[in-house]
Amino acid sequence: MWSSSWIFVLAAAGSAVGLGNIWKFPYITGENGGGAFVLLYLGCVTLVGIPIMMAEVLIGREGRYSPINTVRALIQQHKSSSMWVIIGWMGMLAGFLILSYYAVIAGWALHYIVQLANGSFDGATAEFANDAFDSFLADPWRMVFWQTVFMVATIFIVARGVTKGLETAIRWFMPMLLILLVVLLGYGVTSGGFEQGFDFMFSFHWESVTAESVLIAMGQAFFTLSLGMGAIMAYGAYMPSNASITKTVVTIAVLDTVVAIAAGLAIFPIVFANGLEPSQGPGLMFVTIPLAFGQMPLGALFGVVFFTLVSFAAITSAISLTEPALAYLVEEYNAKRWRVAVSVGVICWVLGIGTVLSFNLWSETYVVGELTFCGFIDYVSQNIMLPLGGVLIALFAAYGLPNTVVGSQLGLREGPFALLWKVVIGFIAPVAVLIVLIAPIFDVVLEFLGLG
Ligand code: PHE
Repeated sequence: MWSSSWIFVLAAAGSAVGLGNIWKFPYITGENGGGAFVLLYLGCVTLVGIPIMMAEVLIGREGRYSPINTVRALIQQHKSSSMWVIIGWMGMLAGFLILSYYAVIAGWALHYIVQLANGSFDGATAEFANDAFDSFLADPWRMVFWQTVFMVATIFIVARGVTKGLETAIRWFMPMLLILLVVLLGYGVTSGGFEQGFDFMFSFHWESVTAESVLIAMGQAFFTLSLGMGAIMAYGAYMPSNASITKTVVTIAVLDTVVAIAAGLAIFPIVFANGLEPSQGPGLMFVTIPLAFGQMPLGALFGVVFFTLVSFAAITSAISLTEPALAYLVEEYNAKRWRVAVSVGVICWVLGIGTVLSFNLWSETYVVGELTFCGFIDYVSQNIMLPLGGVLIALFAAYGLPNTVVGSQLGLREGPFALLWKVVIGFIAPVAVLIVLIAPIFDVVLEFLGLG
């Protein structure tokens, strides 16, 4: 059990704030045309993310086991369909897939700590920063090395049990991360590209919105809030009974969003001021940020601190990715926690090698369409499994559990708010997600028929 609701907020925020905010959000915003994407994403967080996070927390707190066993217990208790267990299984699988590539990208951040520390980027040009990143990606050995370091660190923490280490780490790193983002923001404001960067993020161009970008925005909302795979449900199981779910969830979502927007506002001005491309993909953060630090006084120092914090942010998220599987395996087989942790780690590490190779030896090998191994795992887990898991979680909260249970968890017994909650979680959120999931299929069909 977390010692207070404040610790729950910290742990859940530690899970939510990660590479999704600082690395992924800016680069997919860049790839999807900027402003329109940001607004879609904000819409998804408010309309779908917050209610589904509330559902996950309340289910976890009601069941008080790992997600799989929580759902099982609630099914038994309330005689609902055994089909709901799929929520737990799919979530566990999604956790494995996401962690496999998450560790690779987090490894990039570790690599950059060293690069900044040894002064490689002092006074660097945009071209140098681009080349440095490309040559790193071309080298599978270096990538595997850093991926391994990250995995070992994660499994080490997870195996020892998380409460103490995690709590202290988060207490320090969250405020520091915010301060450093403000420093970078300050640099962005004075870099000469701020207006352009701001415009790029906040001016809405309808023509750049496709069914695909709506799906990506929805996937990102799930990913960045750690929803749809049971991580928040597993954490909810340790939440004190007297804490308000609504208040804590809104706090977490706001915090997470503030970090993502701040990262975007720090990165895009630097992109424009240096004549870089906003749409350059996964390397965006790894090119612009070292570039900016390379030009600041004490940049090497700030740079080291920055990438260290990114790595911390990644580790607190990675821990939560393993928690549903770990808690389940420990409960079910009465296994030692460290054994389970090592096994989970090895599986994710092996899968991660595929991601490493997707950037070099397999960069021209496509699993489907234009998706490399890494692209495929990322797409399926983030854009399909998480949203689908979210729909099932919403429907389970709405129709698999009695209203009285949900009402007492949320402190909403009757009246207009209880009704509003029911409409949002039982209809608006799942239907919105389903439309978004199905729309790209229509697009493909229309194109196939020559009507698109
Ligand atoms: N929310 C984390 C991030 O933004 C990633 C994550 C996804 C963590 C799903 C747990 C579960 O980086």
